[in-house]
Amino acid sequence: MAVSFAISRNAPKEFDAIGIGVTSDGQVPKSVGYNRTRLAQLGFEGKLGQVAVLPALSGPATIAVGLGERSKVTPASLRTSAASLARAAGKWKRLVTPLADVKGLDPFEAAQAVAEGLVLASYKFVNHRSDRSGISAIEQVTLLASDLEHAKAMEDGASRGGAVGEAVNLARDLANTAPAHLNAHDLAEFAVRRGHAMGLTVEVFDEKAIAELRLGGMLAVNGGSTEPPRMVKLTYTPRSWKSTVALVGKGVMYDSGGISLKPSDGMHQYMKMDMTGAAVVLATMLALRATRPRVRVVGYLMCTDNMPSGSAMKLGDVITYRNGRTVEVLNTDAEGRLILADGLSLAVEEGADALVDIATLTGACMVALGNKFAGLMGNHQGWIDQVRSAGDRADERLWQLPLPVEYRKLLDSDVADLKNIGGPNAGALTAGLFLQEFVGGKPWAHLDIAGPMKADGDEGWVAKGATAFGVRTLVELLDRFSPPKG
Ligand code: BES
Ligand code: ZN
Ligand code: MN
Repeated sequence: MAVSFAISRNAPKEFDAIGIGVTSDGQVPKSVGYNRTRLAQLGFEGKLGQVAVLPALSGPATIAVGLGERSKVTPASLRTSAASLARAAGKWKRLVTPLADVKGLDPFEAAQAVAEGLVLASYKFVNHRSDRSGISAIEQVTLLASDLEHAKAMEDGASRGGAVGEAVNLARDLANTAPAHLNAHDLAEFAVRRGHAMGLTVEVFDEKAIAELRLGGMLAVNGGSTEPPRMVKLTYTPRSWKSTVALVGKGVMYDSGGISLKPSDGMHQYMKMDMTGAAVVLATMLALRATRPRVRVVGYLMCTDNMPSGSAMKLGDVITYRNGRTVEVLNTDAEGRLILADGLSLAVEEGADALVDIATLTGACMVALGNKFAGLMGNHQGWIDQVRSAGDRADERLWQLPLPVEYRKLLDSDVADLKNIGGPNAGALTAGLFLQEFVGGKPWAHLDIAGPMKADGDEGWVAKGATAFGVRTLVELLDRFSPPKG
């Protein structure tokens, strides 16, 4: 159920808990009812992320929420504090908090961040459980405002934060879903249903349409599967627009590696999340109804699984792309780039002014950056910078990696225009260089989210399991889009 937000000067008559921010320096608000010494005895110093639940004998509980140093409170830190509040609130459904009422912060941004933190941290994946009775999440939140001058801005911020948070949670659900419960066809159906409800244009391309479009990568990767592929194209068209941004998401519903079968290590179970890029693009598109950017947006979900079988693509096979380009397959586990190439080519033909692809693309990127950073690459520094600052605003950490021209020759094939692997080193970079061959020189940025695809445990607003990393970055990017120059 979606969380509902209200802005008020006073707490409603009935509620379960009130979360009060406490900085690590300065005064403790009187309403907490405990002084600093007493709170310290409970192990609470007001550090960012700390909480102390102070139950009352009857009536609502008080939750002290650490804000960190007074001078360092930002929307990002508020998002983290709100997440701690949500986790501490446990089964309580009705919360009150003045967390978004911070002097010196933009009230819209503060309320948005608090709403996002609450919604994102109360996420739990329960769709495969028979008993969901013990699981409850926040239903009602009253954001307290000391004066109502900013009430409208706070209301808008909270409603945006709530909507974007719900979109992220939806993508998390999709990525956490067991592979047999979500094939390419299912995801396409879901996109149609939800996309129409949000006023988007949705087109689904089935295996026949994909063959007619000569999407060589999709056909090759799907070769070993009993489940047919789907490409979904979603379009958001605002009243007046000048530019088009295309988003392309890797939707490998399950990545077994294909004939280049993955080793049976712990990683296998997570390859159901190899469609995170597609889920992120879908969730971003669904959030646009709430955020209303002034740019036209086209999203491509490239959906297929990657399976071994008698009909699977083989090593040495050569794929011919729509634009005539040929690719020699030397590792069937490097499948993501093969299907992204189809999506990027179509996006270029669509006339997109700027492109972003997002994909759980390489283990190499995860090795390089770990699970808190996505790799950011591209061919246009101005556009890359826009993506990076969107990531900053979203508090999703991106780290730029180079695409050195000198490494392009690592993709030279003996028999075709390109091969799909670039050797043992710089795997994230050679994957990026491969994609670059299909963007026709258009401003393009590539997000490799293999590392942050999943979280091993709850931490701040990140919930254990699929993270749907990237939704909020893309939403921010579209919000403040400016046409890349040159
Ligand atoms: N989906 C994987 C990448 C991945 C690995 C994502 C771990 C998340 C966690 C991708 O399709 C893949 O298998 N990449 C290969 C490429 C290699 C064969 C060039 C890899 O990274 O090993
Ligand atoms: Zn993959
Ligand atoms: Mn793979």
